[in-house]
Amino acid sequence: KEGKRNKLLEVNKEAAKYFYYQLRSQRGSIGYRYLADRQLSDEMMKKFGLGFSNVSSNDLVQYLRTKGYQDELIQEAGLASFDEKYGVHDKFWNRVMFPIQDINHRVIGFGGRVMGDAKPKYLNSPETMIFDKSRNLYGLNFARTSRQSNIILCEGYMDVIAMHQAGFTQAVASLGTAFTAGQANLLRRYTEEVLLAYDNDGAGVNAALRAISILKEVDLSGKVLNLEPYKDPDEFIKNLGTEAFRQRMEEAENSFFFELRIMEKEYNLKDPESKTKFHREIAKKLCGFPEEVERENYIEAVADKYNIGFDNLRKLVTSYAAQTG
Ligand code: CTP
Ligand code: MN
Ligand code: MN
Ligand code: MN
Ligand code: MN
Repeated sequence: KEGKRNKLLEVNKEAAKYFYYQLRSQRGSIGYRYLADRQLSDEMMKKFGLGFSNVSSNDLVQYLRTKGYQDELIQEAGLASFDEKYGVHDKFWNRVMFPIQDINHRVIGFGGRVMGDAKPKYLNSPETMIFDKSRNLYGLNFARTSRQSNIILCEGYMDVIAMHQAGFTQAVASLGTAFTAGQANLLRRYTEEVLLAYDNDGAGVNAALRAISILKEVDLSGKVLNLEPYKDPDEFIKNLGTEAFRQRMEEAENSFFFELRIMEKEYNLKDPESKTKFHREIAKKLCGFPEEVERENYIEAVADKYNIGFDNLRKLVTSYAAQTG
């Protein structure tokens, strides 16, 4: 079984080299231009080992065969698919390729992006014996040695690379799936504070809310970056630059206040009934702080921020805490 794992790592590495070489070749120049147009430097393309999968659909399989790899292994690595009509054929074609590395810089899978608006925008390797999406984070192989006081968690490959290019080498991304407890535990080995930089859209906000509660479960503190008026870290940095991004990092919002701000949207604070319901929900949420000092601090801050009488809020919290034990 260890032998099989090594074989899978080997064939992934070979594929990464192949894609990398293709990006620098004549046929891959369209991919290179795409990445350059998105303002990625040569240095970053190299650091992240970016590559290109060709238009003609069986190049990689043919190349790997000449290197002596069996079709079965190539398929098991998720690099090829099989169907009746075409037989064994490349999974990725006509995409810029992002190798996904584990913390030891070993290639365990790929993400591939179309260069236009076709769907799906990104195609990712399936889970394999060596690629468990819920236990890896894109960019963590670099972020783990970045010696920063936090780790920035974002959605996408391009976001990670754009942040690294701007000097924020502590950026990582969950791999096209929701952030998991496994990934939270992984992060906890390297940091105590996570700055969330998810996309500034409905899906991103929901992903951030889920990430906050997962981080809490492993005792990691989370703060939320405001990317307004841009959609994601890549676009923010492209438009407003490194210093503005650093500023936003410093101003990152306490995750509890972020949660309240999202919750608040469901209520009409001009209506006393709705407002009361909102305050009750806040009180229930405050029960989530078991430590008394922390709870008091939050009650005080929330009372201040939302203009609720401190004693009233405190009483309400105490009554809910008693109910829920
Ligand atoms: N993703 C995916 N499959 C898709 C769409 C997205 O796996 N069909 C993952 C990718 O890892 C992607 C991330 O989710 O990087 C975030 O998606 P999205 O915000 O849509 O893409 P961006 O990262 O912003 O991509 P780009 O800037 O290249 O448009
Ligand atoms: Mn998104
Ligand atoms: Mn995005
Ligand atoms: Mn983007
Ligand atoms: Mn006060």
